[in-house]
Amino acid sequence: MSDKSTVGFQPMGPASRQRWARSRRRVGRIAVSGAKRLVKMAMARLPVAASRRHRPRTSHAGSARTSVTSAQDVVWFHSIDLGDGEVTAGTKSAGELAAQTNALCLPLSLAGQTVLDIGAWDGFFSFELERRGAKRVVALDEYAWSVDLRAQREYHARMRALGQQEQPPEEVPGLMDPVGLPGRAGFDYARARLRSRVEPVVGDFMTMDLAELGRFDVVLFLGVLYHLKDPFLALRRLRDVTRTVAVIETVTVQLPGWQDDKLWLFLENTELDHDATNWWAPTPAGLTALCRAVGFRQVHVVIEPLLHTPPNDGYTLHYGRTYIHARV
Ligand SMILES: C[S@@+](CC[C@H](N)C(=O)[O-])C[C@H]1O[C@@H](n2cnc3c(N)ncnc32)[C@H](O)[C@@H]1O
Repeated sequence: MSDKSTVGFQPMGPASRQRWARSRRRVGRIAVSGAKRLVKMAMARLPVAASRRHRPRTSHAGSARTSVTSAQDVVWFHSIDLGDGEVTAGTKSAGELAAQTNALCLPLSLAGQTVLDIGAWDGFFSFELERRGAKRVVALDEYAWSVDLRAQREYHARMRALGQQEQPPEEVPGLMDPVGLPGRAGFDYARARLRSRVEPVVGDFMTMDLAELGRFDVVLFLGVLYHLKDPFLALRRLRDVTRTVAVIETVTVQLPGWQDDKLWLFLENTELDHDATNWWAPTPAGLTALCRAVGFRQVHVVIEPLLHTPPNDGYTLHYGRTYIHARV
């Protein structure tokens, strides 16, 4: 019997799979001259890189200094249904978030469970798991919450118009405010509107005191891993805060003909989505191998991108998103 079925996790039905596949068609493709940029790492030799950003080691609940009175005042990442027919205008559409929610393959009821949402941003998934009856949900973030998202949007438009490479926000004066937390305005606004009891925690998952954070039955690690320089340490810390299952969603790469190899592609610049904060894209096999290496006992790929046929004209990388259930 599959691990999913033993705990009541929901496999996707054919209709959901089709919806999911449609939403994934926008995966990026880039051609490279040969496999020279592929890094096949001996995991034991993975360097423990210093964080690019200086971050405090402590966590706190905090709150955004800017108080917002209307959803229109916020630059939203998530499209959140606030009720009364109002849905926030997020970068991630409601349809995309519905497909992603489905792909998590979590039970419809999480009654009695505790949940940690690492990298929660506007909190869509935190609110969703609270709605499913979780008895406690913690939304952890710091980086996006510190960014002045409006100023960042203007900066991106400026750089694109000039044809220049964008720098990460911490390297651009005026874009980050880790005290005022301007990027948390959306989370705070949605939390108030939804009368939610989700607990915000401001902290850098890579450096904060995990004993203080505690362990959770279900841990969401969605769209975070590729932003972290040191994936080995990140997954080891993820295992440390997981009591039952961690749900990992991350960018993976496919090099036709190499799908069984445990590869990790290093992203040096802005080659993935023009985003200088993306560092790693493993193959699904590389990702599951690293999960096992850090001590997860059962690791299941629940969703992975469709396989591409090997082309005859050299190497072609295909990026996609993979979902994993990693159990302690
Ligand atoms: C691409 S967004 C994903 C947001 C959300 N989980 C989702 O899937 O829609 C990445 C999030 O991870 C957060 N993040 C990045 N590094 C982090 C760290 N070291 N500790 C906590 N959160 C982090 C960012 O601030 C951002 O909110």
